[in-house]
Amino acid sequence: MDDTHPGLWQPVRKLTVRQISEQSASLYSKHGLVEVSVLAQDLFRLRITSARTFCPSPSWAVSKTDWPGATAEIGAGRSQVWIQTARGKLSVGLADGGWQVQDDSGAELFASVPAESGFAKDGCRMSLRLAEGQALFGLGETSGPLNKRGLIREFWNSDVLGHASAIHASLRNLYISIPFGISLRHGRTAGLFWDNPARQTWDLGQLRLDRWQMQAASGEVDLYLFLGPQVSDVVGRYTELTGRIPLPPRWALGYQQSRYSYQSRARVEEIARTFRRRKIPCDVIYLDIHHMNGYRVFTFGKTFPKPKEMTAKLARQGFKVVAIVDPGVKNDPKFGVLKRGLAANAFVKAADGKKDYVGKVWPGESRFPDFLNAAARRWWGAEQTRLADLGVAGFWNDMNEPANFALPTKTLPDDCVHQTDSGQLTHAKAHNLYGTQMARASREGALAHQPDRRPLVITRAGYAGVQRYGLVWTGDNSSVWEHLADAVQMCLNLSLSGLAFCGSDAGGFLDNATPELLARWTQLGAVTPFFRNHSNVETIGQEPWALGPRAEAICRRYIELRYRLLPYLYCLFAQAHKSGTPIMRPLFWHYQEDPLALAGDDQFMLGPDFLVAPILRQGAVARAVYLPRGRWFNFWTGQRHRGSQHIIAQAPLEVLPLFVRAGAIIPMGPVRQYVSETEPRIIELHIWPGGRGELDWYEDDGLTMAYESGNVHQKRVTLSSYRRGGAILRFAASKGPYPSRVKRWRVIWRGGRRAEVGGRRSESGGPRSRPPTSDLGAIALEFANSDEPMERRIK
Ligand code: GLC
Repeated sequence: MDDTHPGLWQPVRKLTVRQISEQSASLYSKHGLVEVSVLAQDLFRLRITSARTFCPSPSWAVSKTDWPGATAEIGAGRSQVWIQTARGKLSVGLADGGWQVQDDSGAELFASVPAESGFAKDGCRMSLRLAEGQALFGLGETSGPLNKRGLIREFWNSDVLGHASAIHASLRNLYISIPFGISLRHGRTAGLFWDNPARQTWDLGQLRLDRWQMQAASGEVDLYLFLGPQVSDVVGRYTELTGRIPLPPRWALGYQQSRYSYQSRARVEEIARTFRRRKIPCDVIYLDIHHMNGYRVFTFGKTFPKPKEMTAKLARQGFKVVAIVDPGVKNDPKFGVLKRGLAANAFVKAADGKKDYVGKVWPGESRFPDFLNAAARRWWGAEQTRLADLGVAGFWNDMNEPANFALPTKTLPDDCVHQTDSGQLTHAKAHNLYGTQMARASREGALAHQPDRRPLVITRAGYAGVQRYGLVWTGDNSSVWEHLADAVQMCLNLSLSGLAFCGSDAGGFLDNATPELLARWTQLGAVTPFFRNHSNVETIGQEPWALGPRAEAICRRYIELRYRLLPYLYCLFAQAHKSGTPIMRPLFWHYQEDPLALAGDDQFMLGPDFLVAPILRQGAVARAVYLPRGRWFNFWTGQRHRGSQHIIAQAPLEVLPLFVRAGAIIPMGPVRQYVSETEPRIIELHIWPGGRGELDWYEDDGLTMAYESGNVHQKRVTLSSYRRGGAILRFAASKGPYPSRVKRWRVIWRGGRRAEVGGRRSESGGPRSRPPTSDLGAIALEFANSDEPMERRIK
């Protein structure tokens, strides 16, 4: 980003009020236009352009446009216009075009620096003041620390093989671009989303310590300003604006095994058999690029004879198959997909707007489907049905930045032409949208083919809103400890940016994992939303059993824990779908007022009740853990801890430090070898008394789209204390027509002495202490489920 010199950037200033309505005000000057509007009490929109009209095309990110508005006072004085709601105020100065957002107490949330903001020949820029101690989060996919203050991030989706983030400096580019920042200042959270998919560069206080400088290569200023004050308010609204994750099929919460590549049908079947023989639960096996015939998309090569028979055989063993789908279509005139794509005029054009652009990816010379075009998306979706008909259950959209080996820029030329749903766009303007629109083509294609099946789409690239179409993983990391540590903050910031369904390649992709690294990464993967082990071609095997018996036993145990936790996780997914609340959350999600919770980027919350403190360093057998206010229990040993302090958790290789909040109700199911193996009829409710807690129990059929029309089962369960250490569990009446599959609730008491049943080993139980997985705690009570309200006293 070039340094500011005032005068280069022409602000839209000397404004005159054109119109004021109930929800908006528009202003003009000879420099351009400004429009402010109120979408909700805590959400303003600010648009600025140097052109004569605002861009008429609809946003690619925003999915909600029908805001009912909010009670607001909109006023104009001699020096400014403003919108005031109960939550805060947005004001724009008429003379210089500077603007400010304040909270309900008048404290500044954002303030622009007009002399450093404005428009130039090649783009527009917005400079904001940064206050001392203001912390910044979100930004989608980033490397480096959790707090993004001090980072320079360029939003330009890039194939960054082996993103050596924490080893070197933070990377400027990654696969996913989400220009959404969350600011935490004096205990209050606010958010800013600049909806502009052009190449953007954000400097969050690096070149100038007190400035948040944003620059876009083209387009207009289109800011959504979120007033908070809680981070949940900001993320809730952001995901209301840009969409929330659809519910995945329940099997997608299981453990998944991938490899670049399992190169033959025989090898895939051997892998599947080995999982079952070794009793390591697994739901999904991935087919990477070697399954194709010469990397021709949607085909199977000679080493995969009778693919339909293969998927059927795997299905009988409880496995789903997910296949990789790259956008580049081999430029082979005899290839049916190419022929039909040509007939549909579905490919991105070269600069002349006529000839298709031909680049190079895995298949060699390739053309690139124009996913920004509705007809092209439909064509692609129809091609994809061939995989679905062969029994492929999910689509892994890779290389969709898009990657292009033909050029040093590693993507399409800026001047390529897309024929989008709303007119032509150069690739420079469309680039960041490509991945999202590919995922959209994939999801919509899957739904068009099987309208009642929940699709599973995984995408590497994306822009704001991509969460509506697919889940994301963090791309090509390496089997190094630094990338294990980075995976934590990457997933947390993705989660804060609306992408609640995310994960990293467990074990690391490039390079060779050690048994210890695989064990630690599997422990982390088991408690992240997307749990997939994946490794690069020519690395040593990385399956749970590949690195010796000790690592295998640990992997098995944590994969089993994952399956035990599925009922809890599914409730969290339902919540993410309904409200945008991430599954994996930074500590400050729940403890925003606590500066220590803000600093901790090596531990996180899984839902409201679990605190995870993964081991992220080689050789570590203990670590400091910060427990926020309240009371906490060691999940494994039942040991109690006071909050608001650091403790040392013992963590021999077998132990992932895991803590539970007093008051927690954690629903757990049995270990299964795959999700649909059994439908648990008895659900254990593990309770840790000594505090209040609640559980939003959620069930549906786990497979169809019926949840969208309300065929779900919900009930609120609460825990409170009574007298000395006892607890009361209350079940509200059930809601929703879906009949619960739960026959009985089994309450497992996890507080105090009774927990000793499962807490055979103390925290310092030696290097091979085995975390118990199926016999934790003591059964306090068991009773039949009911749709009616009920109450149970325990102890
Ligand atoms: C890319 C993907 C990786 C995949 C490989 C081969 O590098 O990020 O996951 O295995 O391509 O398809």
